[in-house]
Amino acid sequence: MFSLAPFCEEPKKKAVKKLGFLRSLAFAVCLIQNLSAEVTSLDRPSPAWLRDAVIYQVYPQSFCDTDGDGIGDLRGVIAKLDYIKSLGCTAIWLNPVFDSPFGDAGYDVRDYKKIAPRYGTNEDARRLFEAAHQRGLRVIFDLVAGHTSVQNPWFMESAKSESNVYSGFYLWVPPSEPGSVAHEGSRPENFIKNFFDFQPALYYGYAKPVASNPWERSPNDPQSLAVREAMRDVMKYWLDLGCDGFRVDMASSLIKGSDRDGGAALRELWSDYHGWLNRNYPEAVLISEWSNPAEAIPAGFDIDFLIHFNEPPYQHLLDPWIGKDTDPNPFFDRDGHGDIREFLDGYLKLYQATRQLGYIAMPTGNHDFSRPRFHGRDENDLKVIYTLLFTMPGVPFIYYGDEIGMRYFPDWPKKEGAMWRGGCRTPMQWDGSPGAGFSTAPVTNYYLPLDPDPHRPNVASQEGEPDSLLNFVRRLIALRHANPSLDNLGGFEPLYAEQNKFPFVYRRTGGPQDFIICVNPTGTAQTCEVKALRGAHPVLTNGATREGSKLTMPPVSYAVFDCSPELNLSASIHKSP
Ligand code: NOJ
Repeated sequence: MFSLAPFCEEPKKKAVKKLGFLRSLAFAVCLIQNLSAEVTSLDRPSPAWLRDAVIYQVYPQSFCDTDGDGIGDLRGVIAKLDYIKSLGCTAIWLNPVFDSPFGDAGYDVRDYKKIAPRYGTNEDARRLFEAAHQRGLRVIFDLVAGHTSVQNPWFMESAKSESNVYSGFYLWVPPSEPGSVAHEGSRPENFIKNFFDFQPALYYGYAKPVASNPWERSPNDPQSLAVREAMRDVMKYWLDLGCDGFRVDMASSLIKGSDRDGGAALRELWSDYHGWLNRNYPEAVLISEWSNPAEAIPAGFDIDFLIHFNEPPYQHLLDPWIGKDTDPNPFFDRDGHGDIREFLDGYLKLYQATRQLGYIAMPTGNHDFSRPRFHGRDENDLKVIYTLLFTMPGVPFIYYGDEIGMRYFPDWPKKEGAMWRGGCRTPMQWDGSPGAGFSTAPVTNYYLPLDPDPHRPNVASQEGEPDSLLNFVRRLIALRHANPSLDNLGGFEPLYAEQNKFPFVYRRTGGPQDFIICVNPTGTAQTCEVKALRGAHPVLTNGATREGSKLTMPPVSYAVFDCSPELNLSASIHKSP
């Protein structure tokens, strides 16, 4: 294929002036060509299965309860593996299931190598890995690598004034240090926390330690390395039992003072773990909660989430609620005040910086912010949102219950440190019974109250409705799996993305068939001209039409067109769900 590669370098300062314009034009063409070209493999080792991965997030306490205590458990997850598989998912990620006092719903780990009794036993975890693998599903655990509970024996030893092997595991500072936290041990210093006051930060070292702060020590200090090895040992324990990788909590928090060295020490730390995984567990995945893929992926992660903090593209799409708006005018809003450029300009920068190295994940939701079924959105709005989320490059994640349109409740009980988050952690709605099929416990004993609406969405009723949100999600995922252009590395090229205008139209390329995806989230009909649509054939739409290159989209609509250069209708019919 014709290559513009030599023009891809940034124009040099001494470039002949009259070549400047041509060069920038070529650069722009090159950018578009690069974006639309499929990446066939990554420039560094990463598990091959990620290319087609779709991951389901299970919030374990709210998913399925088999022992009648009102809290979900691992046996419940096992019981629902076939359901997860039926969505087209290839892996699950579980929030922390380790022994914990549950001040922060399990993100305060007391014992990294023990399953919390409320979820079951280590043997249940082994059975979960086995049962998932039998079905071709992988299981990803949550690694709370940055901090522990104050009840963790590492911390309790470290908090003693007598020196011991754990003395250097945490960051101890003079009590006069701002933000430091007092404790009940005999040690005279205070500790530095990572999140809540009961979550002391593990101490992997400081970037460029400052001599005037005697507590600052290098990431290469033997004490820092001892912490690094302790966490590696935790990973090894679960990987050897059958676990397939980790989502890492607050992944950028491990090295303190990272701004001093431009993140070099943090990159060294994660590259060390990533290299070790590649050598010893090449199928294991490392996913970061960082929300800055341009930093996280080069640092060593296979996948980074774009979510409610740090880099803003996701916030411009959905306005994930975190007790306040993250963008009061998101793109996915019927009033049409959103602007796709706010999303796209930031997204393209991150995508361009990472697409040879790893994957961006834009989840439907998660346990820290509002579900997409909020801000007045109904199931029709969700279909438009999911059309985009399940046809973009990168790895799609479904937060449990989003596939049926479960609602978010901003004023829900603040259980286990939930703050605004209780409303996105409600029990899964499996059927239309009073307890929604989540548990045999009285509903008053449920971990959190159920959605009180008698018509709340549920899996059983949507199973039987061909046009339900649940079946729509299945169709989209099946289309993705059947067509390499739509997979996680397929090419991506915006075709119509105008400031403050609708719809948003883009092309996915690289496989035998190319696709054009169109979304109009607004409450009014929208039209636009897209040359590449000429001759395209709709494979999934709720009313969009094409005449020549003119696209007309009704209010709240989506469309996926097959726009293969040599349109092969029989292949399209064969492959579409
Ligand atoms: C991010 C987790 O997603 C969140 O739920 C938790 O409270 C904090 N990290 C602290 O671990």
